[in-house]
Amino acid sequence: MKSYNSAKKCHFCHKPVAIAFSILLLSSLLTLSSSCRSQAQQKPYADITNAADERKIDSILSVLTLEEKVNMLCGNGKFTSPGIERLGIGDLQYTDGPLGIREEIAKDSWEPVGLTSDSATFFPCGSALAATWNTAMLYECGLAMGEEAKTRGKDLLLAPAINITRTPLNGRTYEYMSEDPLLNARLAVSFVQGVQEAGVAACVKHYAANNQETRRGSVDVNMDERTLREIYLPAFKAAVTEGGAYSVMSAYNKFRGFYCGENEYLLNKILKGEWGFQGPVVSDWGGTHSTVAAAMNGLDVEMGTARYFNKNLLDSVKQGLVPVSVIDDKVKRILRLKLFTQRTPVPAGTQEVSTPAHNKTAYDIAGESIVLLKNTRKNLPLKNIKSSSIVVIGNNALQKNAQGGFGAGVKARYEITPLEGLKNRMGKDARIEFVQGYKATYHRGKPFGMFPDTLPDQKLIAEAAKAASRADIALLFIGNNREVETENSDRKNLNLPFGQDALIKAVCAANPNTILVVVAGAPVNLHVADSCASSILWAWFNGSQAGYALADVILGKINPSGKLPFTIPVKLNDSPAHALGTFPGKEKAEYTEGILVGYRWFDTKDIAPAYCFGHGLSYTDFTYGEPQTNKPAYSRKDTAIITFNLTNKGEYDGYETVQLYVKEMDPKVTRPAKELKAFKKMFVTTGNETAVTLSLPIADLAWFDEKLMNWVVNPGTYQLAVGSSSRDIRKVAQIKVK
Ligand code: BGC
Repeated sequence: MKSYNSAKKCHFCHKPVAIAFSILLLSSLLTLSSSCRSQAQQKPYADITNAADERKIDSILSVLTLEEKVNMLCGNGKFTSPGIERLGIGDLQYTDGPLGIREEIAKDSWEPVGLTSDSATFFPCGSALAATWNTAMLYECGLAMGEEAKTRGKDLLLAPAINITRTPLNGRTYEYMSEDPLLNARLAVSFVQGVQEAGVAACVKHYAANNQETRRGSVDVNMDERTLREIYLPAFKAAVTEGGAYSVMSAYNKFRGFYCGENEYLLNKILKGEWGFQGPVVSDWGGTHSTVAAAMNGLDVEMGTARYFNKNLLDSVKQGLVPVSVIDDKVKRILRLKLFTQRTPVPAGTQEVSTPAHNKTAYDIAGESIVLLKNTRKNLPLKNIKSSSIVVIGNNALQKNAQGGFGAGVKARYEITPLEGLKNRMGKDARIEFVQGYKATYHRGKPFGMFPDTLPDQKLIAEAAKAASRADIALLFIGNNREVETENSDRKNLNLPFGQDALIKAVCAANPNTILVVVAGAPVNLHVADSCASSILWAWFNGSQAGYALADVILGKINPSGKLPFTIPVKLNDSPAHALGTFPGKEKAEYTEGILVGYRWFDTKDIAPAYCFGHGLSYTDFTYGEPQTNKPAYSRKDTAIITFNLTNKGEYDGYETVQLYVKEMDPKVTRPAKELKAFKKMFVTTGNETAVTLSLPIADLAWFDEKLMNWVVNPGTYQLAVGSSSRDIRKVAQIKVK
């Protein structure tokens, strides 16, 4: 049977791989942009192997029977895979993220067990985390989630989810982080380090190119090598080589003709070979499709099914189709992870979940994630609300988002809705009335999933407009929810659901002081919203403390500092995959836009978005001084240091995320008009100035040459543009590369 997808067999030799890994790690640590590094609590994570553990692993391996070894490679429950009972090595316990620790479900079904002790903190969704642009915060989030996972006795947290936001319609955009590989990578590294600080292994998912839910179990993704290396792999590479992630989850889809869970190129060649990954590759749930091919091509654990790595694998070994050395390597990877997680004991007794410290982390993240899209008439923050009448409109003011739709959620110990948050924070001063505005109703669609109804409810709209007309201020909550944005199906279009556009028009016409709050994890069409409202906030699926964080932004207790981690297009067909008609793809998804994903496309093709990547206003104003570089010309091994002053000229203390975009001036190959190469979140008090220093390793200017199969830095002139967003560039400088 010739079922595995390369002529090359895998040979495992740990020492050279370990050495290669150390070198790789060292060099990547050396080239890591310090502008980003300075914000994370850096841990000297190196090689995830260590000599003492390796000796222990060898001695364990020497006493295991083949049956015992193979038994470890296949789940024995929905979220467990076997250890070795007779040696006191417990089963591996998995838990879902990335929104928080999933409730316990039955061993053999998806039914919740119904415990009273498995509630947890609901953390802001992935795109909200990314909107903080704050690596230190990602570390804190990972640490808090890791601690909750540890408390529940888990070995692996199935997070972070770091696939690139290729299309705004992907049902899982809210779980993922960004359309930009650098932002994704920096955030992923910090998150992984945080989780693992708690003694729990991060399982980075979904490797790789899992960018649509439509036919996700069969779609064959194809892209050129350069695109793979420049856009889709960097975050995975960083999570493994810099973050030291202990495990990786293979994706459901195929890549260049082969399922990701049996993909020799992705798993053996790149992940385990080039990046020296020493932990286990775990299949996505039900994402294993073969025995010999999967075993030979790099999958280590079959999860969600027990069809291929069960007796079939044992038989394949006995028939000589899978060498024992391959099985040994898989067991070693699992033991490496298990010895690591065992070093931090599970706290004894019943533990408090969702501790005050974790709630604070959730609040801090939520507060920094909220994006002020627009504030033309400076209606925000609300001032002097004493004795005002405020009408809160829209079902999303009541909507909880910890659970919903298909896939992982959190049984949140509590979730403060926007209405609760607003009432708590201003109920004593202002009169707050709520009207529903729209009903969240659905119809069933194919293959399964619920699709939002689109017709406006005129009665609710009339009621909302009437309430808005008699109130001093209207706060209108629109957007999606976790039924609309869900795993396993993509949205059909960008439109706001439930007839919300008609509601927006009516409410804004009734009250010019209408403030719009968009609750969503993925881009929506804001055309009507934009033409009607002068203030718009983007508030995400924002975790247990969502309502308090939002109320504090509205009142100015928190000065908003979130920046969009993706482009919001004017219309769907402005987005690359849609402009080129390659989404969702039938059997194949051809990524013909290549490296021009997200703002790289919009800026290179000169298409104006509704709101660009990196956009987010503040209640204060920042000015940027002239950037200076430490040299006019650099060699490829240098690091350019860019310095400039950032001044807070406004009335509020606040954070600004300064962004550095680079453009090669006279490229001989396709290069995007802008590429994010560094960023830094700075706090500046009102009236003050601070010096910003950004580091740009010249090696980061490289593009991937598929002929050479290597990174190449072109000599020439590069423009360095610093600004407040990808389109709000404040100052530019130029450097030469020799
Ligand atoms: C998802 C994974 C998740 C797994 C277990 C799959 O459907 O793609 O992200 O971790 O289920 O719930």
